[in-house]
Amino acid sequence: MLRIAVIGAGRIGQVHAKTIAAHPQAELALVCDPIEEAATALAQTYGARSCTQAEDVFADPKVDAVIVGSPTPFHIPHLLAAAKAGKAVLCEKPIALDMKDVEAARAELDAVTTPVMFGFNRRFDPSFAAVRAAVEAGKIGELEQLTIISRDPAAPPVEYIKVSGGIFRDMTIHDFDTARFFLGDIVEVHAMGQNLDPAIKETGDFDAAVVTLRAASGAVATIINNRHCSSGYDQRLEASGREGALFAENIRPTTVRLSNAEVTDAQEPYLDFFLERYADAYRLELSAFIEAVEAGTTPPTSIADAVEALRLAEAATESATTGQPVRLS
Ligand SMILES: NC(=O)c1ccc[n+]([C@@H]2O[C@H](COP(=O)([O-])OP(=O)(O)OC[C@H]3O[C@@H](n4cnc5c(N)ncnc54)[C@H](O)[C@@H]3O)[C@@H](O)[C@H]2O)c1
Repeated sequence: MLRIAVIGAGRIGQVHAKTIAAHPQAELALVCDPIEEAATALAQTYGARSCTQAEDVFADPKVDAVIVGSPTPFHIPHLLAAAKAGKAVLCEKPIALDMKDVEAARAELDAVTTPVMFGFNRRFDPSFAAVRAAVEAGKIGELEQLTIISRDPAAPPVEYIKVSGGIFRDMTIHDFDTARFFLGDIVEVHAMGQNLDPAIKETGDFDAAVVTLRAASGAVATIINNRHCSSGYDQRLEASGREGALFAENIRPTTVRLSNAEVTDAQEPYLDFFLERYADAYRLELSAFIEAVEAGTTPPTSIADAVEALRLAEAATESATTGQPVRLS
């Protein structure tokens, strides 16, 4: 039984706490949030202890592992402090808001010896993972083009957008990791940002984007993002190869279809937002983390994966700003 603490009792902290509480090999030991009511409310829901100082998590001998779900600027400090205290770490994306912060901590990050995994949950989505397994098994021949569509039902509050690091670091980061998961090293990034929402434009961020990535293999990925989508949480993926194609479609609560005089084949809306849509992915991500920690094996996603995804986010930001493709060495 892995005793896990969750740092940050916000949106993703709540997802992880729920997932841990339901997992047969995990125990939610401690919840930490500087907002005391947030920490105690989440802890009490699952019978865990709570605290308001992250230092209390790192010093706690009854904590084996830490999930870092605090705001992004705290990811590196929390990850390093947890690792120095000998705790295994599952850290949320992105690793930082700026590559400069990664470079400043490079020596300490390289020195980490405890297991560290990053929260690229979409690698564990059963449909996306099945597409990748089929690609790896040669079912569509050589992979030539990957298309990732990721549209949120509605934009987060402007206050969140202002400190998010921008759409590429905050949202597209998942898709950059998915592209790397399928295609390996990326050598060229070309991004176009869109300003469809005047409130988000005022923050200086884009609220929609199309990104093209060229892999070292010659394969190309297209990522389509939008902070809003009238039909709900639109999460699809298509892999096209020399000898076939694979499609992962949106998921609904049931497969029921309605046909009548007004509509034919109408279905329920898609599973709404990340908690519901990726519930299985978060569960399988946690299982992979626990398995690696208990078996002493390398977790499936690493600090290096997190750094590479951030590098792609920075290249996309530059490309969308200058209008020029960015080549990566
Ligand atoms: N993998 C995913 O699907 C996913 C989804 C959402 C968010 N995230 C990531 O998770 C992180 C948190 O996002 P969120 O949406 O949950 O934000 P949020 O604002 O809902 O929650 C953040 C929580 O952290 C707390 N906090 C602030 N400073 C803290 C500190 N020093 N120590 C501990 N807790 C602190 C806040 O009080 C708040 O309760 C972000 O980095 C985000 O990119 C990942």
